[in-house]
Amino acid sequence: TDLVKEKIVEDIDESSEEEEELSTNLELEEIMEKREMIEEKEKEEKIKSLELEKAKEEEERPKLIENTEINNRKAFYVPVNRSDDIRVARMKLPVVVEEQQIMESIYENDVVIICGETGSGKTTQVPQFLYEAGFGHPDSENPGIVGVTQPRRVAAVSMAQRVATELNLSSEYVSHQIRFDSSVSKKTVIKFMTDGVLLKEIAKDFMLSSYSVLIIDEAHERSLNSDIAIGLVSRIVKLRREKEINGIVRPLKIIIMSATLRVDDFANNPNLFTPSPPVIHIKSRQFPVTIHFNKKTPDDYLDEAFKKICQIHSKLPAGGILVFLTGQNEVHALCKKLKSRYPSNSNQLESKISKEKTLIAKREEIDAGSFELDEDPDEVIEQVDSPVDESKIEDDFYLENDTKEPLHVLPLYALLPTDEQLKVFKEPPPGHRLCVVATNVAETSLTIPGISYVVDSGKVKERVHDAKSKMQSFKVDWTSKASADQRSGRAGRVGPGHCYRLYHSAVFDNNFEKFSKPEIERMPIEGVVLQMKSMHIDNVVNFPFPSPPNSQILFEAEKLLMSLEALDTNNKSITYIGRMMSAFPISPRFAKMIILGMNNNVLQWIIPLVAALSVGDPFVRDLENGIVNEKDSQDSEEKREKRKKYFQTHQTFAGKHPDSDSLKLLSAFCASEYSSNIEDFCNTHFLRPKAIKEMKQLKAQLISIARVINPKFCEKMKFDKVQPPNDSQRSIIKQIIASGFIDQIAKLKPKMSHEKAFKYQTLLSKEDALIHPSSCLFNESPPEFVVYEELVQTSHVYIKGLTAISESIIPIVARSQCTFSKPLDTPEPFYNSEKDKMICYVKPSFGTVLWELTPTPIE
Ligand code: CDP
Ligand code: MG
Repeated sequence: TDLVKEKIVEDIDESSEEEEELSTNLELEEIMEKREMIEEKEKEEKIKSLELEKAKEEEERPKLIENTEINNRKAFYVPVNRSDDIRVARMKLPVVVEEQQIMESIYENDVVIICGETGSGKTTQVPQFLYEAGFGHPDSENPGIVGVTQPRRVAAVSMAQRVATELNLSSEYVSHQIRFDSSVSKKTVIKFMTDGVLLKEIAKDFMLSSYSVLIIDEAHERSLNSDIAIGLVSRIVKLRREKEINGIVRPLKIIIMSATLRVDDFANNPNLFTPSPPVIHIKSRQFPVTIHFNKKTPDDYLDEAFKKICQIHSKLPAGGILVFLTGQNEVHALCKKLKSRYPSNSNQLESKISKEKTLIAKREEIDAGSFELDEDPDEVIEQVDSPVDESKIEDDFYLENDTKEPLHVLPLYALLPTDEQLKVFKEPPPGHRLCVVATNVAETSLTIPGISYVVDSGKVKERVHDAKSKMQSFKVDWTSKASADQRSGRAGRVGPGHCYRLYHSAVFDNNFEKFSKPEIERMPIEGVVLQMKSMHIDNVVNFPFPSPPNSQILFEAEKLLMSLEALDTNNKSITYIGRMMSAFPISPRFAKMIILGMNNNVLQWIIPLVAALSVGDPFVRDLENGIVNEKDSQDSEEKREKRKKYFQTHQTFAGKHPDSDSLKLLSAFCASEYSSNIEDFCNTHFLRPKAIKEMKQLKAQLISIARVINPKFCEKMKFDKVQPPNDSQRSIIKQIIASGFIDQIAKLKPKMSHEKAFKYQTLLSKEDALIHPSSCLFNESPPEFVVYEELVQTSHVYIKGLTAISESIIPIVARSQCTFSKPLDTPEPFYNSEKDKMICYVKPSFGTVLWELTPTPIE
């Protein structure tokens, strides 16, 4: 006991001086008692301080106050202390008049749709109605928080701030959460987030149990993420109802908010919601906007926009200008030009700081190594922005009678750092006219105050998808009529306004679609399926899409993704490779090729190859018909000369031993890059300059994406003027091509003596296929196995875009197409053991015919 006593004394010695004094005189038990007392005291103090903290929190937290009954329902409210300015500003918003009706609808229905003109106050006010009614308050019967989703990060942050200001609360209560940045706390009542963040939360907690209401905002934009979110919540609402009956959780309320565009896909869609949810239309207060079309559609809308702004600024009365362009580089180029024309001290410094901040923000994201390019639709687009020639914006036109009044020029686009973006909501410096140069971020998500003039390029940069090549790219094209009207509407918020459309009215009438297509219809379906799988939505075939794709097509897409190894063949869930592929906004076939290109150190050829394959055949073919089909004797000397050169050129591109149309295409494209004058090069080499230019653009876009995905790898890689691949690199590239077109393998059939042409059997068509005359393999001795880019049916079935492959690689690159005579439990059983030779069959999807392969070991 003495030893123990000593030990305890020692312990206590260390613990405190006060104890030390006591311990010398006291017996063991007393020491123990004392010790317990101290511990108890500490505990009590801790509890007390926690209670104090909680009490303080409670005290700070706005109270929930019981109100008189409304419509037989016990009613509560949370008082709000708004400033006078805010109170006055709110009164002007059309949505405020509808508060009563909106709240009644929400109590009576699980799903409500609110439809109203941009700027009518939906985003800022509806969350406040809910807050004031006690939603999200821990003492209320709906303690779950109020969630609001936005397609754009800009909007999520700025709207959270605005609502916090209006409610006179800190960002601990009204918070935002976007990728890499969150102000969410224990006290959060309202949370603004991007659609992407919501999807990730659903993946973690399908019941969304921390929410009592979820507002899906800007649903009219029909981004893939918000469409998927709506599909998912349509199921979650039902689940929460079922569980509420069992007394487990409270029901979840859903509010879908949209600008005044078609809402039928949500409102009258039994696939999604039954019964059909009520639609509340907000009557808008919009001043008339006079539309001015250009008399001539200019070649260069950037230059035209510059001139128009100068005109407005020097000749027209006060009022902010809002300009719509398509990408961040354009925005910067125009801002720079405007700032140098109308210098103001603040402008110059600001532009420098802003540029640096943008670079830092971008750098940080790249360093974070994020694969998730898909969160904000505008961000993906800005990542692949093409450079702008600033010198093309001319400025000597209006110099004579121009004003010296200062212009407060601000850029606005998705990748701009948040605090820079928020500047557009602040008053311009005294005596300055506000001029915001924006991408379509400003179309519906953000309402910039004080705008009287809109300058609309009429253009938008969008993801487009070519059904034939299955390739996605980003193209600048005319926007839709609905979008153009949204843009012009921005000028009529403060008073009568003017919208200058920099295009002819006939272009608007004839070339503009009525509505922009939902993103899901602009992406290849394999891409959509892959995105969904990356969100852990495994059953895509029965998914409740607002506008569902055909289920057979979804099923086919899954099959292709499995053969590309993007999905697990057992449970159809995404694989590691699939996850990498999903970061590329391009067809999974090509994404797979790019990833293999990275892994095999041949990316400098695979990227131009993918760009070239997707643009398609650049060779001038009609010339071939014109020349080839005529009799030699009738030809002029000039024509004969030309024909000779034509065949020589094709031979040069195809190489001495032609074995691949894809590689021929690659060498033509790479050769063009050595030439300083593309037009000349194309003319002398029988190529279409437009196709080559498109390839160049696409290549630049793919490189910028690859740089974000894998910055370290791409840093040391040179993509300009690449040397032709050597033999071993060629063989790797051919294998990669085969890996992209694995379901498009064809095998040579034994030739009957009476037949003229060689025939191939494919996996997809019952009919035998002939080699297309455009192929460089057309007159060569036919290889046993080929992959093809395209199957075309005219008078015959033809295979086009061929690459010869060796039999032995099929079981490796196209394992999913093969049936093995023995189960494959080890990864590469047929490499090593000669004794243990196995037979591998390739089975066409339609029949019982088997191609028997006896794989030979590969070095
Ligand atoms: O969502 P909806 O388009 O219907 O309107 P809103 O975004 O709620 O905007 C309502 C009003 O709040 C507009 O007049 C905006 O200019 C203003 N607002 C603001 O002054 N500052 C912000 N940070 C956000 C909105
Ligand atoms: Mg809004």
